[in-house]
Amino acid sequence: MDFTAQKIGRVFFDYSDYISFIIQGTTMEQYAIKGGNPLVGEVEIGGAKNAALAILAAAIMTDETVVIENVPDVRDTNVLMQAMESIGVIIQRIDRHTVKINASQINDLIIEDDYIKKIRASYYLLGALLGKYRKAEVALPGGCNIGLRPIDQHIKGFRALGADVRIEHGLIITETKQLRGNHIYMDVVSVGATMNVMMAAVMADGQTVIENAAKEPHVVDLANFLNSMGANIKGAGTDVVKIRGVAKLHGTEYGIIPDQIEAGTFMFAAAVTKGDVTVKNVIPKHLESISAKLLEIGCEVEESDDAVRVVASKPLGHTHVKTLPYPGFPTDMQPQITVTLGLSAGTSIVTESIFENRFKYVDELTRMGANIKVEGNTAIIDGVGKYTGASITAPDLRAGAALVIAGLSADGITTIDDIKYIERGYEDFHLKLQGLGAQIDRIATDREMQKFKLKVG
Ligand code: UD1
Repeated sequence: MDFTAQKIGRVFFDYSDYISFIIQGTTMEQYAIKGGNPLVGEVEIGGAKNAALAILAAAIMTDETVVIENVPDVRDTNVLMQAMESIGVIIQRIDRHTVKINASQINDLIIEDDYIKKIRASYYLLGALLGKYRKAEVALPGGCNIGLRPIDQHIKGFRALGADVRIEHGLIITETKQLRGNHIYMDVVSVGATMNVMMAAVMADGQTVIENAAKEPHVVDLANFLNSMGANIKGAGTDVVKIRGVAKLHGTEYGIIPDQIEAGTFMFAAAVTKGDVTVKNVIPKHLESISAKLLEIGCEVEESDDAVRVVASKPLGHTHVKTLPYPGFPTDMQPQITVTLGLSAGTSIVTESIFENRFKYVDELTRMGANIKVEGNTAIIDGVGKYTGASITAPDLRAGAALVIAGLSADGITTIDDIKYIERGYEDFHLKLQGLGAQIDRIATDREMQKFKLKVG
């Protein structure tokens, strides 16, 4: 655990001490930011959190050992692994980003509420356990800060495969003697339902066809991972995914794709701070919708094989954007582009079409001087010349990261509370930003705040 002790300046007694610290969150901690420095330099992007969550869960679908590389060391992946350990999965961290998983000793098929409360994506264990053991009980996830999050399409998919699904005492209980392939039409494009049903179908009898499937890079990554374990999945990345059931899956070694959203966040951080940042270890194709918007507002974007450089040397212009399923502009980048357009000349319109309550952070941004009016799922943004530092709170993961970006460009000092949300999905966020010249520290006490103020002058 040396790396963690170094990272957050705290020494842990053992792995469980570290995990309970991660689970309890770090509500006392804040980011302190002194804005004004253009971000300049190179930053390495980690493994995709949303791919890792599904792939870690899917690793329990074989009794053989699975090695997964490029797992981001963030709160969500750590909590999911703890949920997996709670049912007897043996997980060994080989290094900070590589885990060895063996699920041959699973002794329980129930995932408790505690985990689901901390991380919705524990529900991937429903599809994985149902697919392998024909039975699973997982606490029902509730809504969250960005709106209602129904799981009707997951349930519809499991039922279509022949599973009985019922909700009792806050648990989703699903079981069957036999899973049978079927034709499933998804009423909405859902990343989670596509991945959960894919896992449930992988060892079903016969062929399953998922129509209107999500096409996100992490859906493709999960399919590639399962195929490397012996599954037979075709069409991932298109609207129609075909899964021919196989008798069993075997061990594998697999590396997770780079995180599209982490990369996009640094690309917008470059734009907002008028910087020059090369994001490395990315798949530029996954970033096309983000690059296109940056070009539209006047940034230069240079792509190479596994890096994208964003240079913002001219004043930023306005644009309109609507979030859509992949390959459209990602909802997980909506707060970051809104923060950027808040400083761009003219009027921009951002329409959120995936989640109904994803503009909550605008109130915080208004406290920093933004001029944004939210009407339903639309934000009408009149660009202002600058933001000014304020004490604000991160309402959720991506909005929290976007507010950090706002702070980096603001006049004066910004403090951001509830950074536990940001740390759910960004590894070493403040350290990576420091590496690009940002004045940002993670602070826990008034004394640390005083030290920060003295340091930044
Ligand atoms: C995943 C991502 C999240 C991202 C989102 C959309 C993970 C862990 N999270 O969330 O970061 O913002 O994709 O790209 O990968 N819906 C239903 N019924 C369902 C399922 C979803 O109506 O059964 C709706 C949702 O309310 C939402 C839309 O479908 O309006 C898309 O949701 P979905 O793609 O399922 O998002 P998640 O998988 O939860």
